[in-house]
Amino acid sequence: MIFTEELNRRRTFGIISHPDAGKTTLTEKLLLFGGAINEAGAVKNNKIKKGATSDFMEIERQRGISVATSVLAFEYKGIKINILDTPGHKDFAEDTFRTLTAVDSVIVVLDVAKGVEEQTEKLVKVCRMRKIPIIVFINKLDREGKDAFDLLDEVEQKLGLTVTPLSFPIGMGYDFKGIYNIWDKKLNLFDGDVKQTISKGIEFTDISNPKLDEIVGNKHANDLREELELVTEVYPKFDKKKYLKGDLQPVFFGSALNNFGVKELLDCFIDIAPIPQAKMADNRLIESNENKMTGFVFKIHANMDPKHRDRLAFVKIVSGTFKRNTNYLHVRLNKKMKFSSPNAFFAEKKEIVDESFPGDIVGLHDTGNFKIGDTLTEGEILNFKGIPSFSPEHFRYINNADPMKSKQLAKGIDQLMDEGVAQLFILNLNGRKVIGTVGALQFEVIQYRLEHEYGAKCSYENLNMHKVCWVEPEDPKNNDFKEFSRVKQRYLAKDKDEQLVFLADSDFTIQMTQSKYPSVKLHFTSEFS
Ligand code: G4P
Repeated sequence: MIFTEELNRRRTFGIISHPDAGKTTLTEKLLLFGGAINEAGAVKNNKIKKGATSDFMEIERQRGISVATSVLAFEYKGIKINILDTPGHKDFAEDTFRTLTAVDSVIVVLDVAKGVEEQTEKLVKVCRMRKIPIIVFINKLDREGKDAFDLLDEVEQKLGLTVTPLSFPIGMGYDFKGIYNIWDKKLNLFDGDVKQTISKGIEFTDISNPKLDEIVGNKHANDLREELELVTEVYPKFDKKKYLKGDLQPVFFGSALNNFGVKELLDCFIDIAPIPQAKMADNRLIESNENKMTGFVFKIHANMDPKHRDRLAFVKIVSGTFKRNTNYLHVRLNKKMKFSSPNAFFAEKKEIVDESFPGDIVGLHDTGNFKIGDTLTEGEILNFKGIPSFSPEHFRYINNADPMKSKQLAKGIDQLMDEGVAQLFILNLNGRKVIGTVGALQFEVIQYRLEHEYGAKCSYENLNMHKVCWVEPEDPKNNDFKEFSRVKQRYLAKDKDEQLVFLADSDFTIQMTQSKYPSVKLHFTSEFS
């Protein structure tokens, strides 16, 4: 197949949701359609156990498993679909933010009873900032939930989206009759007993047809007619261009568990979702159809076998064809590298592949050369943008608990930070090391991994901080900045890239500092220029 065909048949996306909304179930059903797995439960069995925050073996198990489920690829109707896993657990939010830099679109899953939840709000905000095309799937229609119009309102208000329903439910919960697909004008009847079969739609181009009353009953038929009229009046017509620009978000209803409404979602998805998109580098925009290979690392994973300490760097191919055993430039290290066993990911396995195309993810074995954000090219000097660090929310001093192993500790911390497990800040005043994480769970992961993979021991000391802000002085020589540096000396540190950060103990402090030193800009992400 020629390059452009390969490019055009790829869709790389992520599914985001608040935990429990049904992301895993939906993923599994999508894989079933692709024939990528044979039975429901295959993904589920791998699922991270919820709430297991202090079981180290569980953490280890999760790490192994998430390699397997990091990328799930399958083919459907000739389209190569890559689903990138985005952990729903808030302690792994940073991981999810980074994964969102590698997707070309997302599907947001909401629970019909719970509506928009906190984690979804945060993640959708990031998608909106990046103008990522979004499809919303409202799940669990077989249960009692909120009214469809109320939910659509909530999605618009809390998520700041402009929605247009492409399907509409008939009844809900015990009275759930099915779904009318506005997208392809078909009626799908719900049969809760048949979980694995794919519902066949009944063509219904004209819903005024009295046959509708026969099928779903008089009341439901009339309700549906009224509701669809309202939909036409209130919501904008679906417009693919607007969806692709991130200005309009289609909404589907269904029940992932019952495999209901999933095929409709998938069929529409392959029709409208974007092919691999161009990506901005520091010096220019890289189009996906350029023939020279470029790609960037968005995730690093310690491998299953901790004794070997080898890691897998996940590279998203942005342009060109990535070939096995070919020399590529690792731009940050200015070093030529070739890879004899690049992995491609399929639903349940990974395999060595000779060629990968834009939109694909390749896993490269790494012995410590890669950091998140690194760029690979055929020789051009460029760095992909848009993989910022976000402010952590938990902070602790990290101390060496075994003086004989200080080298191992330093190396361990260094590598774990490259993997993006947490962020390290070094205080300007005394050189003390501060670890910042998004969730408390990471402190345990770090301690455990330092000991088991690097033979080093660490202890923590609490540090009552709220956020870090990346500091951008308008003019490093002006008095404002000098004064800021003097007064806030105790709270200034450097991040891994030697950027200056300010550790603040409250939002109030940030506000006060900002108003006192207006020419010193405080940013919540590391990338602001
Ligand atoms: P997550 O990955 O977003 O965290 O959600 P997950 O798919 O694990 O789904 C969370 C729970 O919701 C699961 O139940 C799952 O079976 C259920 N669920 C998913 N989709 C639907 C649906 O369409 N209808 C109904 N009624 N339930 C749904 P659980 O009891 O937590 O797990 P399990 O015992 O079923 O494995």
